[in-house]
Amino acid sequence: MDTMVKLRDLSKTYRRSDGSAVEAVKQINLEIYKGEIFSLLGPNGAGKTTTISMMSGLIAPTGGDAFIGGHSITKEPMAAKRLMGFIPQEVALYPELSARRNLLFFGKMYGMHGSDLNKRVDEVLAFIDLTDRQKDKISTFSGGMKRRVNIGVGLLHRPELLFMDEPTVGIDPQNRRRVLDTVKQLRDEYGMTILYTTHMMEEAQELSDRVGIIDHGELIALGTQGELTQQVREEDQIDFAIDGRGWSSELEARLLQEVPGLTRVAYAPPGHGDDSAGEESLAALTAFAARGRQALPDIIRILNDAGVEVHSVKVREPDLEAVFLALTGRALRD
Ligand SMILES: Nc1ncnc2c1ncn2[C@@H]1O[C@H](COP(=O)(O)OP(=O)(O)O)[C@@H](O)[C@H]1O
Ligand SMILES: [Mg+2]
Repeated sequence: MDTMVKLRDLSKTYRRSDGSAVEAVKQINLEIYKGEIFSLLGPNGAGKTTTISMMSGLIAPTGGDAFIGGHSITKEPMAAKRLMGFIPQEVALYPELSARRNLLFFGKMYGMHGSDLNKRVDEVLAFIDLTDRQKDKISTFSGGMKRRVNIGVGLLHRPELLFMDEPTVGIDPQNRRRVLDTVKQLRDEYGMTILYTTHMMEEAQELSDRVGIIDHGELIALGTQGELTQQVREEDQIDFAIDGRGWSSELEARLLQEVPGLTRVAYAPPGHGDDSAGEESLAALTAFAARGRQALPDIIRILNDAGVEVHSVKVREPDLEAVFLALTGRALRD
C-alpha cells in the first residue's frame, strides 16, 4: 500500500492567555494510504480540527511532524500543500460575490489563471451541481449549497489528497447525502485520498476504508472497521422475533447443547419487545454466538422442529459505537 500521509508523534499544546496549557493532540502516529477514505472519528473537543489543521499547515505543531507525499509540512510546506485540498469546518466564502466569482478568486490564489482556470471552474461547478446557480450571490445560497461551493474550492487545483473537517455539520439531510456521495465519488472515480473527520459514527461507518478513533487528543484505535469491531466483541448477536407459544426451558437447553458456538440465549415473552409495533403476539429471542451467521441455520431448524415459528431474524454486526463504548466507557454522542 502506498502511503500518502504519515503522522509522526504529531502533537499540539495550546497556551491559554492565563498561561494554562491544553494538550489538544498527543503524539499521534498514523499512516493514510493512497486512494482510501480515512475517517478520524471522535466526539466534540477530541482534537480532530487541531489535527487536520496541523496536517494542512494552518497551525504549527508543538511536537512531531506530518508528511504529505513524503514532504514535511513544517519543513517543506509548499511542496506538501501542492498535493492537498482543504475544506474547513466553517464555510469561508465571499457572500457578496457569485459562486463563480468565488471559485475564480480562490483559483487565482492557487496560482491558476486564464482559460485553464475558466475551464476548471466549469468542471467544478458541474461536479458540485451548481452550474445553474453560478451567477447568484453566495448570500442567497442555503447552508448546504455553501458547503458545496466550499468543497468546490478545495477541488480547484486537482489535489490528490483532500482534507474535510466535519463537512456535514449543520446541513439538512438531503445535502448531507450529497456530500457523502461526493466523497465516495472522489475516491471511486478520481482515485483521491480523503481524510474525513466526523463525530458521527454512521458517517464513518458508511464512508471509511479505515478509521482512527480519537478521544482527548489521543488516537485510541486504528484499523479497518472489521479489525476494530473484532477487537471489542468476539460474539455476534442474533435477534429473532418468534411465536412464543412453543417456547420452553427444554427448548432453550436443547439449543445451547446442539448449536455449535452458541453461548447464551435470552428470551423475552410477547409484550416485552421494544420496537415490534403491531406485532404484540411475538416474543423476542436473542442468541449470542461466536459466528452468528454459521449458527443461524441450526437455530432455525431446532426452533422449527419444536413448532416455533420464526417471523424475522437480524444478525447484528458490531459497530463503531460499540468500539468507542468499549474503549472509553462513554457513548460517542455524549
Ligand atoms: N485556539 C485554541 N486555544 C486553546 N484551546 C483550544 C484552541 N482550539 C482548540 N482548543 C481546545 O483543544 C481541544 C481540541 O479541540 P478541537 O481540535 O477543535 O476538537 P474537535 O475538532 O475534535 O472538536 C478542545 O479541548 C478545545 O477546547
Ligand atoms: Mg472540530
